[in-house]
Amino acid sequence: MLILGIESSCDDTAASVLADGKEILSNVLTSQDQIHSPFGGVVPELASRRHLESIYPVVEQALDEARVSLGDIGLIAVTQGPGLIGSLLVGFSFAKAISNVRSLPFRGVDHMAGHILSIFLEQDTPAFPYIALIASGGTTSLYLAKSFTSFTLLGRTRDDAAGEAFDKVAKLLGLSYPGGPVVAKLAETGEPHFISFPRAWLEEDSLDFSFSGLKTAVLTYCNQARQQSELLQISHICASFQEAVIEVLVEKALKAAQIHGISTVVVGGGVSANSRLRQVMALRCAKQNLQCFFPRPAYSTDNAAMIALAGYHFFKEFGPSSLDEDVYSRSQLV
Ligand code: KG4
Repeated sequence: MLILGIESSCDDTAASVLADGKEILSNVLTSQDQIHSPFGGVVPELASRRHLESIYPVVEQALDEARVSLGDIGLIAVTQGPGLIGSLLVGFSFAKAISNVRSLPFRGVDHMAGHILSIFLEQDTPAFPYIALIASGGTTSLYLAKSFTSFTLLGRTRDDAAGEAFDKVAKLLGLSYPGGPVVAKLAETGEPHFISFPRAWLEEDSLDFSFSGLKTAVLTYCNQARQQSELLQISHICASFQEAVIEVLVEKALKAAQIHGISTVVVGGGVSANSRLRQVMALRCAKQNLQCFFPRPAYSTDNAAMIALAGYHFFKEFGPSSLDEDVYSRSQLV
């Protein structure tokens, strides 16, 4: 079965053709980073307008690169939520229209399910059950993945997502958007323990996250340094901030594995592109005899191949979605 995946939940318009829930025939994405960069974050109205312009050419390119036509497609999988409503509506309505006109089944997909399953786009795949740490610009959550369609939410951020914290810290340091890659680059030449920024562990055994206090701590540090006319040591600030985020992400994922007696950890979402996170997680997992999996960055950031993959499994288990379904802004995986 050929699946056409469509993703437009935030600021990337993406389409992919996947064969039998595994083989990627095409994976096309247009990024809106340049549009949102002057604002230091995604502007919802600008995002949905650009999705409208991009959706048709992106889907057409995905079909062309896969050397197939709509007549070859057996299922349309599309992100239903969570995300920005205006952005989601563009992809969702486009998928519904194709489904209706071509009498094709379509399956709405929770974006988080895509991230949890994105590791199955790789050759080396984990066995269920596993702990999935999903850290992106919009969310930071821990799930227990029991099968291709069964996930339990174990913890999530109570305020900023990890990627959002990277973006906000980059903005206050006068760096470009998205903040994650630029902060990570500068951190390479900084000392991770130069400044002791706070780690929000929350209550004992809590698997929730909180990153807004850390962001404020970076702001306070910078303000104090400026007041004392000290030169901001940007690399050290980036490295120390990044270390604080990573330590919490890694330790909470390991705690989830320990509490639930699980021996595999999978990391996804845009922040999982961070090489220091990959390094620390791999080291800590090896110490605890845990297996650790990271999809390559192109599959861990937002993409439509993971939506096609998740849609394929949900369709097999639950059948198609109905044309009168709507998009939603908050994840329905609980
Ligand atoms: O999953 P994703 O592509 O989409 C959204 O959530 O929209 O994640 C994007 C987020 C951004 O906040 C970005 O700053 C962050 O992932 N990110 C990183 C890195 N690359 C992207 N954060 C830390 N280190 C990186 N190397």
